[in-house]
Amino acid sequence: MCGIFGCIIRDGQAVKLITDGLKRLEYRGYDSIGVATLLDGELHVRKDMGKLEEVVEGQRVNEMMGSIGMGHTRWATHGAPSMVNAHPHMDGSGNIALIHNGVIENYMELKEELIEKGHTFVSRTDTEVIPHLIEEELKSDIGMKGAILRVLRRLKGSYAVVVLSTHEPNRIFCARHESPLVIGVSDNGTFCASDVPAMLPYTNQVAYLRNGEMAVMSLDGYEIVKVIDGSAVERDLEEITWSLEMAEKQGYTHFMLKEIYEQPHSLRNGLRLQEQYLNLLTQFLDMGKEVLLTAAGTSYHSCLAASYIFSKLSRLTTIPVVSSEFIERYGSTVGIDSIVLAVSQSGETYDTLKAIDHARMRAGTVLGITNTVGSTMTRVSRAYLIQQSGPEIGVAATKTFTSQVMVLTQLAMRLAKQRGKLSQDELDEYEKKLKLIPDWVETVIENSAEAIEALAEKYQDEKLFLFLGRGISTATALEGRLKLLEITYVPSLAYPAGESKHGPISIIEDDVACVFVCPRGETHAHIIGSIMEMKARGARIISICEEGDEEVKRLSDDAIEIPKGIPEELSPVPYVVPLQLLSYHLAVLKGLDPDMPRNLAKSVTVP
Ligand code: AGP
Repeated sequence: MCGIFGCIIRDGQAVKLITDGLKRLEYRGYDSIGVATLLDGELHVRKDMGKLEEVVEGQRVNEMMGSIGMGHTRWATHGAPSMVNAHPHMDGSGNIALIHNGVIENYMELKEELIEKGHTFVSRTDTEVIPHLIEEELKSDIGMKGAILRVLRRLKGSYAVVVLSTHEPNRIFCARHESPLVIGVSDNGTFCASDVPAMLPYTNQVAYLRNGEMAVMSLDGYEIVKVIDGSAVERDLEEITWSLEMAEKQGYTHFMLKEIYEQPHSLRNGLRLQEQYLNLLTQFLDMGKEVLLTAAGTSYHSCLAASYIFSKLSRLTTIPVVSSEFIERYGSTVGIDSIVLAVSQSGETYDTLKAIDHARMRAGTVLGITNTVGSTMTRVSRAYLIQQSGPEIGVAATKTFTSQVMVLTQLAMRLAKQRGKLSQDELDEYEKKLKLIPDWVETVIENSAEAIEALAEKYQDEKLFLFLGRGISTATALEGRLKLLEITYVPSLAYPAGESKHGPISIIEDDVACVFVCPRGETHAHIIGSIMEMKARGARIISICEEGDEEVKRLSDDAIEIPKGIPEELSPVPYVVPLQLLSYHLAVLKGLDPDMPRNLAKSVTVP
């Protein structure tokens, strides 16, 4: 997820508006920056890796002239952060510059086709193929608009692009498919950006581009056409009434809530991972005599969930271990036959990197799953996968947890296929259900958000919470507990429900809140028993259960229902969302800032 901004103005230099716009988009990505302007029919481009202020100063961006221009703040998905991989990317002639937010899935085949036609590439990005494709189409004399439309019809994946060219120096072309893009108009000019915050200081008159639309912007305004056939689209302007601060959160009060609501989108991106890396990690996992899954905090909970999925689907025993205990626990046994799959959204967590170092030192094979291209983890892993959640600002991990579980589930399914542990029908069924997960999460948010807010009000004075689940729901319960603990500071425990009668049940007395995660499946009958044990001792029961599960609902004081038909081994993603929302609303009701909980940092880079 990157931030893009473009403008064509009557008075003044575009560069000031562009850098200010990028500042307000920095939460979307911040590993490299680039700006292009057009002056007297010439394209000027300055870009580099680094934070906005560093690049603006280092590249003397503020000296760039021209009343038409664009800028990009990057969150790397393909090609590590570097000057050459930063946007804008150019065509071979240097007359076309393009910035992009999204993932072009078929870029490799397009690149090979262009190389055969004599094009040469300088970066490792997927994006660079687009300006070269436009250059190629321009050879048939159809003008920029026609050429871009032809190219867009060939792209697979997600994109929001902005194009500048010396061929038509008074126009900006921008288009979107899946990635967001909004147009703005003021007396001084026309703007486009990934979202409203970037342009709010200049205009609150905006028009949202929809999927499969392209806009041609000029000083006089914009025209919108359909990519599929070039036909014109009428789109009225809307007035934005948000404050700037609200805008950066796209109208959400906190980044955490925005990131919870972004999960359908990040999960869909999580289904678009690069085949070759999914296959590569699957090969390595298949070779291991022992497979250790290591991480910290929320990432550890995705490893714990994965250990159930690998066992169930691929018949592979994996050992989840918190990274701060890795060396003490497996430091003397990890070795050349070990596969260590490390998971870290930041890719910089000290404990996890220490575990990796130790495993490498003992000739173990280290694989990585991270959300941060160019992070240390990507440099020390033998092979890694980028989980494609986009930047997560809230300290409490939400969308990165669900993305990690999604990635790990895809690895388990591929391993099951490779090992012939599931029939083609079973695999197809899982594939179908996996693709439904983003929709299920969307439904959970739409159907339950209000009920969960009311639930938080009901339990806002609770002094203790106990989270319980069986089987894979143990991981969901642990993650729910961590969310509540880290942002509300209310003492909370989490246990495999079967373990509670071996001790934790002693704390149950009237009104202690017990949160049960109880999807349909092999553990359902057992969880009913655990609920009855707690209820008999006066606990108040909150259940996250399947829609229409009357048995659980009858035993519960409050129940949040999740859509039907979700296999237990795929349940952690949709079933954790109500727990994320419950924690969020409880924190807000307590007057706490869910985005910046005390004593915590987004990335823990110290021992
Ligand atoms: C989770 O909400 C916390 N922010 C924390 O537990 C986090 O998951 C942990 O520090 C691991 O971070 P990582 O995924 O970046 O390695």
